[in-house]
Amino acid sequence: MDQQADILFTRRSIRLYKPGSPLTKGQLHFLLDAAMSAPSARNRQPWQFVVVSRKDLLDELSCRHPYAQMLRGAVLAVVVCGDTRLESEESYLVQACSAATQNLLLGVEALGLGGVWLGVHPRKERTEAISELFGIPPEIVPVTLVSIGYPAEKKPRNAHYKHDRVHLNGWTNTMA
Ligand SMILES: Cc1cc2nc3c(=O)[nH]c(=O)nc-3n(C[C@H](O)[C@H](O)[C@H](O)COP(=O)(O)O)c2cc1C
Repeated sequence: MDQQADILFTRRSIRLYKPGSPLTKGQLHFLLDAAMSAPSARNRQPWQFVVVSRKDLLDELSCRHPYAQMLRGAVLAVVVCGDTRLESEESYLVQACSAATQNLLLGVEALGLGGVWLGVHPRKERTEAISELFGIPPEIVPVTLVSIGYPAEKKPRNAHYKHDRVHLNGWTNTMA
């Protein structure tokens, strides 16, 4: 398989970071371009992104999510939000933002950075705490949060493939 496809398998959740310089404008654009290249129902692209680079805000954000301590060492966070004005079907909104989140994480891997997906929606206390911090209006729903930094941990590539999860031309025929 070609090397570019490798990031599909080498991407892991990276929660330990070392200090490093702020991302360049070019890197930031690459990541958001990757996120916005995701598929969405009826091509609505119903996403909005809150990009967080300020250290004080990253620290505050880490206090507003129960499993986000790693944000204290992060160089950047992105709140992937769904815009209910662009997509009224909640499930489609969440699916589009999830696809954008995964694309963003693959972009992070492609740049040699490390990142982790932090669940926000549908936990009301998390969506409210994050909306309050950034002044996000009610029609915009924070769906996920992505922490990004310079990796200080290395994890083996994923090997999750399970033959019995694949059903060939019908439920009873697995690929085993
Ligand atoms: C919807 C969702 C919510 C997640 N929430 C958190 C979280 O709050 N904190 C965290 O550290 N990781 C979170 N993760 C990352 C998962 O723990 C991680 O993807 C999983 O353990 C597999 O590890 P890998 O990403 O290294 O393959 C979340 C992932 C998803 C898809």
